[in-house]
Amino acid sequence: MAIGRSSMQSGLFDCMVIAMSAKKRDILVTSGLLYANGPLHLGHMVESIQTDTWVRFQKMRGHNCMYVCAEDAHGTPIMVRAQDEGISPEELIARFDIEHRADFVDFAIGFDNYYTTHSPENRELTELIYRRLRAGGHVTSRVIEQAFDPIKEMFLPDRFIKGECPRCSAPDQYGDACEVCGATYAPTDLKNPVSMLSGAKPIYKESEHYFFKLQNFEPMLRAWIRHGHVQPDVINKLDEWFTQGLREWDISRDAPYFGFEIPDAPGKYFYVWMDAPIGYMASFKNLCSRTGLDFGAYWDKDSSTEIYHFIGKDILYFHTLFWPAMLAGANFRTPSAVFAHGFLTVNGQKMSKSRGTFITARTYLSHLNPEYLRYYYAAKLNSRVEDLDLNLDDFVARVNADLIGKLINIASRCAGFINKRFDGRLSDTLPESALYEQFVSAGEQIAKNYEAREFSRVVREIMILADQANQYINDQAPWVIAKQSGHQAELQGICTQGLNLFRVLVGYLKPVLPLTAEKTEAFLNIKPLDWQTLKTPMTAHTINVFTHLLTRVEQESVDAMLTATRLEQDTMNKDKPATGPLVDEPIAEEVSIDDFKKVDLRLARIVKARPVDGSNKLLALTLDLGGETRHVFAGIKEAYKPEDLEGRMTVMVANLAPRKMRFGVSEGMVLAAGPGGKELWILSPDEGAPPGSRVT
Ligand code: 2FM
Ligand code: ZN
Repeated sequence: MAIGRSSMQSGLFDCMVIAMSAKKRDILVTSGLLYANGPLHLGHMVESIQTDTWVRFQKMRGHNCMYVCAEDAHGTPIMVRAQDEGISPEELIARFDIEHRADFVDFAIGFDNYYTTHSPENRELTELIYRRLRAGGHVTSRVIEQAFDPIKEMFLPDRFIKGECPRCSAPDQYGDACEVCGATYAPTDLKNPVSMLSGAKPIYKESEHYFFKLQNFEPMLRAWIRHGHVQPDVINKLDEWFTQGLREWDISRDAPYFGFEIPDAPGKYFYVWMDAPIGYMASFKNLCSRTGLDFGAYWDKDSSTEIYHFIGKDILYFHTLFWPAMLAGANFRTPSAVFAHGFLTVNGQKMSKSRGTFITARTYLSHLNPEYLRYYYAAKLNSRVEDLDLNLDDFVARVNADLIGKLINIASRCAGFINKRFDGRLSDTLPESALYEQFVSAGEQIAKNYEAREFSRVVREIMILADQANQYINDQAPWVIAKQSGHQAELQGICTQGLNLFRVLVGYLKPVLPLTAEKTEAFLNIKPLDWQTLKTPMTAHTINVFTHLLTRVEQESVDAMLTATRLEQDTMNKDKPATGPLVDEPIAEEVSIDDFKKVDLRLARIVKARPVDGSNKLLALTLDLGGETRHVFAGIKEAYKPEDLEGRMTVMVANLAPRKMRFGVSEGMVLAAGPGGKELWILSPDEGAPPGSRVT
């Protein structure tokens, strides 16, 4: 094994130190398992892309890094959906397995193994862990009372009961929380509850359940989280949970349930969240049996390998409390670290079906290149638990400016000369070897940032180098030299230099852009790039003919993706009763009248409206507030023609801090309502109302 256990114990900081050492590390990486009952969307892709980028980086550094994942196949929602479709759960999970795998392949997610939790390995490991926990005194049982559907004859999870909110009386609310007023409660608190499966009123029934005694592990977990195994911004959250007190966790469910039966407890099944993380081990075990890797070398208590789980912030409790406790209680090693990321927003808001921003992986892939998204996410990801915004205007601008305008431009400005004038042959030496050396030495800082999952810094550093490479070509102006006779060697040298700088940059970006890197390797006629090979330039070498490595993102493709997303949504809603816009847009948290009074709303006349160059969403409005003029950018271009707005009255937030946008400063905000796009309506007071009046 590559590194000592003692160095791993002290966690993240040491990981960075290890990364800089020349030793070959053995690393196992996972990302969250996907429920086998729904399509992947762009939120899922944040995690897969983050994990895959990190794994590809480790592989490029020469480490033995394995990435495993699986379908999360068990639980009531999967069982119920299969029943509704008249198929077996096995058939349902097989269908989503195929769909999910195809999405991952097309996004270039390079799993070393993709498996399922409904597997013999997982059953065996779950039983083993359960037996060890039971033998250690960490499992207890008692009778509890639960909602039961008398028609379907099954116990009901909270999410399968609906009724009126006990606080605000909103109809059609789930058994655990109200989406209108945000109240949380027990299903027994709901007014007029009904089972979502049969419509029957649930009855309450007793049954024996099995519990994992999480509280037995409090001292161990308190120590574990302080040793660098979780991100600094997660520690506070964990402290809150410790303050609330760790409680026994119900790990059993009654039949009928799709999952593994609990040993010595007929009719009782492991709750899906018990066997899901064990699915990481099971997927790895399956990989071991195919490849001869040593399972124990990774999972035994004295293992000296590294194990990392990439997850979303919503499943921290399972991964930072239950999971390490289960492993410790069953005499396995605990993870080296759990890396949580935030949620995805689209255009600054939660992904929403009514706004048409609930974009599936497949719809994206039908319209856009996967590497645009890989690059955009990398450009925004860091090591913290922060939400990430996919702003579609920024996405188009950034991908085109960076990847096409900076990166690919380097190659396209040099390759033609080499191909046409020198028959693909590069010069024997570099004219500016110091510049090349500078690019090579930047690699260590870039590697440190990859290792620390600071991908936005990686991208920034690489783009600074790309600017330098372009500057070099501008300064040398090969197109001028090409016109001068007797400067052939000079021209060949400049273009050789440019292509060598390009090669280093593509090498650094290879974890993010594996497909472009592969095409570049074919074009440059070189072996697969890794960190080591970048240190030596390509000279006296023949390249192939330059072809397009990556093309521009077209705004039309983004629009087509959004239209397709809306159409899919409309098709899915066709048979459902209308639910109204509140479903996706619950009423926000209550504010006091004093808070509300802080917002100064004024009537304003739109004196001028014009389109904004380079934006498909924005109109630039000039507003008259009864003497004072304001310039505001409003995202209403799809809904209004500028000429129809001029002269109209509207309502604006007059005391909003000015915001610097890409197109200029916006001095306020015009109020509009609706899901977005064409369906957006500005607020309009009656004609005759005087501009500048305060809305009270
Ligand atoms: O939250 C989810 O989508 C779960 N399917 C994640 C499981 S991760 C692991 F623990 F299995
Ligand atoms: Zn409510």
